[in-house]
Amino acid sequence: MCASTKPTFQIVAVDPNAAQRHLRDLLSSLDKDFPYTPAIDDYCERAGTAESTTVIAKSGDKVVGAAFMEPLSDDTNEMVVIAVDANFQRCGIGSALAKTLEEITRRSGKSFLFSRAIGPSQKVADDIKGFQFLKKNSFYFVKEFPTLWEGYPCAFLFKPISSAPPTSSYDHR
Ligand SMILES: CC(C)(COP(=O)(O)OP(=O)(O)OC[C@H]1O[C@@H](n2cnc3c(N)ncnc32)[C@H](O)[C@@H]1OP(=O)(O)O)[C@@H](O)C(=O)NCCC(=O)NCCS
Repeated sequence: MCASTKPTFQIVAVDPNAAQRHLRDLLSSLDKDFPYTPAIDDYCERAGTAESTTVIAKSGDKVVGAAFMEPLSDDTNEMVVIAVDANFQRCGIGSALAKTLEEITRRSGKSFLFSRAIGPSQKVADDIKGFQFLKKNSFYFVKEFPTLWEGYPCAFLFKPISSAPPTSSYDHR
């Protein structure tokens, strides 16, 4: 939960090498949410390609969040991973990261941001925080696939991206 004094933070885009480094550090620190090292390896490899776009959240010198997306089709990007340091969650950092990827998607002329999350039929409340987060950020829940992921229901969510520029600034300092 966010501390009573909300941290100041800034969202910045990073190159593929930095993306891999920051994602590995962050996802490894969230071992309850990312318990499988091969999955972290896979995410880092994908974030390290030229096609991927990674943004991080910095509070002072500390990296407190990261998200990356890759092209899914001509008009859709997939936000593959979004993660926020456990001590900085519920402070709006995840929403700011997602909005930045939405804005980059909009500027590239694409129409949708897609994401997957553990689906709502999962009974462990903590496991569906990603799903709740995406819904709160106006992603539409399309369908849950019970067997796509081993041991977890997989929800598909889409967010239509307006072609109009946003009215608010994305500077969070
Ligand atoms: C999901 C995650 C990225 C959210 O980041 P965050 O910075 O805490 O999110 P925000 O502060 O922007 O939250 C925005 C809203 O999302 C919802 N939300 C976020 N975390 C939630 C939680 N644990 N339980 C229920 N709703 C939650 C709330 O509606 C929240 O608004 P509120 O705080 O005013 O109630 C973060 O919890 C995380 O890193 N989790 C581990 C990794 C993960 O699950 N990634 C998602 C896979 S798709």
